[in-house]
Amino acid sequence: MVAELLATPPCAEIHLHIEGTLEPELIFELAARNGIDLPYADLEDLRARYRFTDLQSFLDLYYSNMDVLRTEADFADMTRAYLRRAATAGVRHVEMMMDPQAHLLRGIPLETSVRGVCAVLERSEEEFGISTGLIAAFLRDRPAAEALEVLEELLAMGAPIIAIGLDSAEVGNPPSWFVELYRRAREAGLRTVAHAGEEGPPTYIVEALDLLLVDRIDHGITCLDDPALVERLVRERIPLTICPLSNVRLQAVESLAQHPLPQMLDHGLNISVNSDDPAYFGGYVDDNFRTVQEVFGLSRAQLARLAEDSIEASFASAGRRAELLGEVRAWAAAGPEAA
Ligand code: ADE
Ligand code: ZN
Repeated sequence: MVAELLATPPCAEIHLHIEGTLEPELIFELAARNGIDLPYADLEDLRARYRFTDLQSFLDLYYSNMDVLRTEADFADMTRAYLRRAATAGVRHVEMMMDPQAHLLRGIPLETSVRGVCAVLERSEEEFGISTGLIAAFLRDRPAAEALEVLEELLAMGAPIIAIGLDSAEVGNPPSWFVELYRRAREAGLRTVAHAGEEGPPTYIVEALDLLLVDRIDHGITCLDDPALVERLVRERIPLTICPLSNVRLQAVESLAQHPLPQMLDHGLNISVNSDDPAYFGGYVDDNFRTVQEVFGLSRAQLARLAEDSIEASFASAGRRAELLGEVRAWAAAGPEAA
């Protein structure tokens, strides 16, 4: 008998690039609205390009498609579409990354991108029941001085960001280059995260912890190559934001069956399940939960633990975290396995 799939738990999504939620249909709609000629014949032609060999092959398409985002309304529409879908996926709190520097580099003022996203985030709890936080991610394949300038501009304009992150092409662009950026962010009272160990070596994870003093690591899957680091991550309860479908689509792991998520659970690592760039990688957070449940036969208690870890690793207020942990416990207790 095929095991019945469990529903996905209520959770926090804490590794999500809002620009990675641009679905092909919305790309075409925004291009038409803005009079942009896309280099794709039609939706099918665009979808056919969603085959990646590594992180860079994805980033090339991701940055190119961003070109359709021109006005505050475009950023708002993208954000609203994600929240609407996330609400059906069980997301109760989201900490969303955006790449304001990437938009600035193509001539879109920070005010346009940030205001467009924030106008929708402000109403998210009321409209979708999802509490939110915005993370400004900086591009590690651009000069560190440029990132610092953009951060200063974001601070000067009072952008309502809760944290900074570090993303884009990882290999050859180590965290150690961004010490001053992270020092400044902490001084400004911001929390900190960084992509490390997605494709890069475990030493990048160590640098992010020791030099950038990050609160959590995005991806971090290459930590398994360094047993002493795994021990440290467990001991210090450092959260790792895991994105299973992303790792497979970007060929960071060979197949879902070979994804290290079960080993990470066995080690006692603090891990959450996230979608990263759902429009590009074949699914939202519920699709990621469903996939790991299907492939690894996770129990309801294990799914609940992943959801609890996502909430505990979030930057939501203590009150909100307690409320959401209660929801996960109720979900865990409601299932047939709990009886
Ligand atoms: N930017 C958007 N998605 C990313 C990812 N998975 N890794 C690094 N940078 C990104
Ligand atoms: Zn990411």
